[in-house]
Amino acid sequence: MTLSTARISSNESFSVVFSLSEVSETEHFVARQEELNAIHKALSEGSGRRAVTLHGLGGIGKTQLAIAYANAHCGDYSAVFWLNIKDEDSVKQSYSRIARRILQEHPLASCLNAITDDSKLDEIVAAVKRWLEHGKNTQWLMVFDNYDNPKVAGNADSAAVDIRRFLPEAHHGSIIVTTRSSKVSIGRRTKVGKLEDVRDSLQILSDASGREAAMDGKLSFYPRRRSTDAYQTRMQPSSSKNWTAYR
Ligand SMILES: Nc1ncnc2c1ncn2[C@@H]1O[C@H](COP(=O)(O)OP(=O)(O)O)[C@@H](O)[C@H]1O
Ligand SMILES: [Mg+2]
Repeated sequence: MTLSTARISSNESFSVVFSLSEVSETEHFVARQEELNAIHKALSEGSGRRAVTLHGLGGIGKTQLAIAYANAHCGDYSAVFWLNIKDEDSVKQSYSRIARRILQEHPLASCLNAITDDSKLDEIVAAVKRWLEHGKNTQWLMVFDNYDNPKVAGNADSAAVDIRRFLPEAHHGSIIVTTRSSKVSIGRRTKVGKLEDVRDSLQILSDASGREAAMDGKLSFYPRRRSTDAYQTRMQPSSSKNWTAYR
């Protein structure tokens, strides 16, 4: 190692600008404060690598919960990475996107300097893992989303994924796994169940449908109520400029 590369390595920065562009976020996240607290507790207590598994039915809100946690706590981490672990190819592609993001900000990152345009995906995964395992790179958060087909005893599916191949092996960093499988238990397991307050569920249904959802014996949808301001403006004899906004 030359003197100049040694100097670069000792001052190496591991910060990557926060972005969750690979996952789509709901416009109005509701409720889940207890679950957010449970994740925060699991990822802030103890030493070594911290991990939490969010387990629940498909569509129950695991991904949105992980996004909400990442948004709320991104300031606690030097880098937040989102990986889709629904199958091997997706997780390798996720690693490849991570490598690009790191190299964009740190073109001289010592662990990634072996990556070239010809590198195979497995080499890229190995290089990014080395970067994550670096003794000074301890403050990252990785979200492994959709770990629904885990390679565990009793799963004969040849497409099943063994997450251990993709987890950095260092005793540092934080990991969130989301899964529908009851067999996955990485770190602390947190069950994501139905929302307790029916008003929160109605709010989600209203946002998704663009109509007002209500429970009056049965689930019904109504045209969305206009806000009082909008309603009053519509009722006033107004200039044509004001009217056009509500037609
Ligand atoms: N807490 C929440 N606030 C608002 N919308 C939510 C919330 N949880 C789930 N949703 C809605 O439900 C959909 C499914 O949630 P998602 O997190 O993708 O489920 P899962 O990952 O468990 O399959 C989301 O796209 C979103 O529209
Ligand atoms: Mg999901």
